[in-house]
Amino acid sequence: MTRKILVTSALPYANGAIHLGHLVEYIQTDIWVRFQKMQPKERVSECWYVCADDTHGTPIMLRAEKDGITPEALIARVHSEHSRDFAGFHVAFDNFYTTHSDETRDCANEIYSRLQKGGLIEKRSIEQYYDPVRQMFLPDRFIKGECPKCGAKDQYGDNCENCGAAYTPNDLIDPYSTVSGAKPELRNSDHYFFRLSDSSCQSFLRRWTRESGRLQPEAANKMQEWLGFDENSDENKLTDWDISRDAPYFGFEIPDAPGKYFYVWLDAPIGYMGSFKNLCTRRGIDFDEYWKPDSQTELYHFIGKDILYFHALFWPAELEHAGYRTPTSVFAHGFLTVDGAKMSKSRGTFITAESYLQQGLNPEWLRYYYAAKLNNSMEDIDLNLEDFAARVNSDLVGKYINIASRCAGFISKKFDGQLTTTDAPWLKPLRDTAQTIAQAYEDREFGRALREVMALADSANVIINDRKPWELAKQADNNPEVSAQLHAACSEAIEAFRLLTLYLKPVLPKVAQAVEAFLGIAPLTWSDAAKPLAAGHQINSYTHLMTRIDPKQIAALVDANKATFSPAPETVAQTTVGHDDSISIDDFMKIDLRIARIVAADHVEGAEKLIRLALDIGETQNGGMKTRQVFAGIKSAYDPALLIGRMTMMVANLAPRKMKFGISEGMVLAASDPNGNTPGIFLLAPDAGALPGMRVK
Ligand code: MSP
Ligand code: ZN
Repeated sequence: MTRKILVTSALPYANGAIHLGHLVEYIQTDIWVRFQKMQPKERVSECWYVCADDTHGTPIMLRAEKDGITPEALIARVHSEHSRDFAGFHVAFDNFYTTHSDETRDCANEIYSRLQKGGLIEKRSIEQYYDPVRQMFLPDRFIKGECPKCGAKDQYGDNCENCGAAYTPNDLIDPYSTVSGAKPELRNSDHYFFRLSDSSCQSFLRRWTRESGRLQPEAANKMQEWLGFDENSDENKLTDWDISRDAPYFGFEIPDAPGKYFYVWLDAPIGYMGSFKNLCTRRGIDFDEYWKPDSQTELYHFIGKDILYFHALFWPAELEHAGYRTPTSVFAHGFLTVDGAKMSKSRGTFITAESYLQQGLNPEWLRYYYAAKLNNSMEDIDLNLEDFAARVNSDLVGKYINIASRCAGFISKKFDGQLTTTDAPWLKPLRDTAQTIAQAYEDREFGRALREVMALADSANVIINDRKPWELAKQADNNPEVSAQLHAACSEAIEAFRLLTLYLKPVLPKVAQAVEAFLGIAPLTWSDAAKPLAAGHQINSYTHLMTRIDPKQIAALVDANKATFSPAPETVAQTTVGHDDSISIDDFMKIDLRIARIVAADHVEGAEKLIRLALDIGETQNGGMKTRQVFAGIKSAYDPALLIGRMTMMVANLAPRKMKFGISEGMVLAASDPNGNTPGIFLLAPDAGALPGMRVK
């Protein structure tokens, strides 16, 4: 039977840039999809690859607010950035859509109403943290405070990054909202729940997660842990899932529940359906054929291991009980590390897709390196920057490209671009490996596929080195026998190169395209392995296909990502996890801190909070003292008259900022309590003896 396949990658959040970690997933999926699309139509008649931006939720709402734009404007901007980045890495979605769409809304409403009819939705009042200043309920991630166990400051509401303790925001000492700094209060609110604890969900999931092919063995084990091992026990480990959030929220309002919105994780996977539905409308595809309960089509979700719970429990349960098909398989991959450690902003290894491309690095280098490291497990994969350059240079340029670059010229120069017959016996194993390599791709064992391909490249290079076409060429002109040898050697090498290109095409789509143009052939598909280039086939002149990586380019990339790093302002909730935010001494030294003497201090007409300061930091002008004008938000705590003559500290190299009242040429340093328990603002002061202009470090 011919296969019809729908493939998804997880939907990236619409509040951040695509980075090299994300790309592990999108490149992995894209390779698999490209491989499927190269299969003969009788085998795979359709393969669709859809994705979308994940646009809903509190972080996106707050981020837009901070940027002073609407959430719609934010997600539109991010959508174009994400589209650009994916295209830059040749990730070829059939549709890259958005969850903020009519299609997703319709699907979400439909699923919700079907679950409701099935008695699986329940309304319940719960207690939740509320920010009385910002007037909104707070997700745990937006509450910080002191760790109850080790006392570390500024820890998130769910766990301590210092000692690893897990707790609830309730346990935090001196909790504060990262949105406003206010102390959160517990308040009641009605929430909607998906009754995952219902025995029908429980028994369905026990069965589903064990069905063959649904989950990788490691993932299935994890699920059994979450679900409870004992099939006959009534122990129910699943708790109901809170699927609503209160206004203000950016998302879909729940029908018939004003002020209540679907939680982002409810509508995000439905975004897979929404994106596909949009594609179906545009391309005349039968949506229901793919989503009806007894569908004969295949559905695969590629995801990172961090979101397994959502895809292997919530999502199948939601689909099953709303009367849709469930995923054929969920494929989880591990996390990217760079040089053996988590991506780090301060080390310059938190590398964005954009900066990689801007630095002029070839996206296919990274595609190849990731593919060489990928298998079908959930193990993390490491981008070792030194190994990256070595591997790409030796495999791709040294072994693969080299075959064409050494042989193509002679075909053009000596034989008018025409090949002779290429059915030599040594090429047979190269052709016969097509099936083995295909199986490796199908199984997501890309590393194994590429090892096969490179072994074939090695065997081709042995033959070419043996025959030495460059030597033959020297004697070929007046010796027909040598000329025939040269013609055969180069033609066969070109045929070997064609086969290797075919096998590498899912990984190197652009190189493959250039090779197809060079060879004057139609786009390569898997069945072309069995169809050698014929005698008399005309090729075009060879132009270089890929350069080597210069390690300097990698050093420059890391530097560029160090340079663009600036710590997030403290009031902005950190929504990206998985990197460390420490800064290097070099970063710190960029801040020019100086001792300042307050020469003058005045009220500012029309400004509630500001005092205008004139600061002496030892600068002179025309032989006299030059002062800096700084507007400081300290009026609530200080009487200007009492400030004159005091010593303090300022940031002297802050970019001047034009304000309504004039230009502010720096910033004075003051302390305050973020949770407001101890009101006040406390200007810093140096010990006696410090002089204006002294550097602080
Ligand atoms: N929006 C959710 C997914 C919703 S799917 C219905 C999300 N977004 S994400 O932007 O944080 O991540 C998108 C995908 O990239 C996830 O599958 C995630 O696992 C993957 N990765 C993000 N950082 C990664 C690494 N550092 N390494 C490997 N994959 C990573 O989760
Ligand atoms: Zn702690």
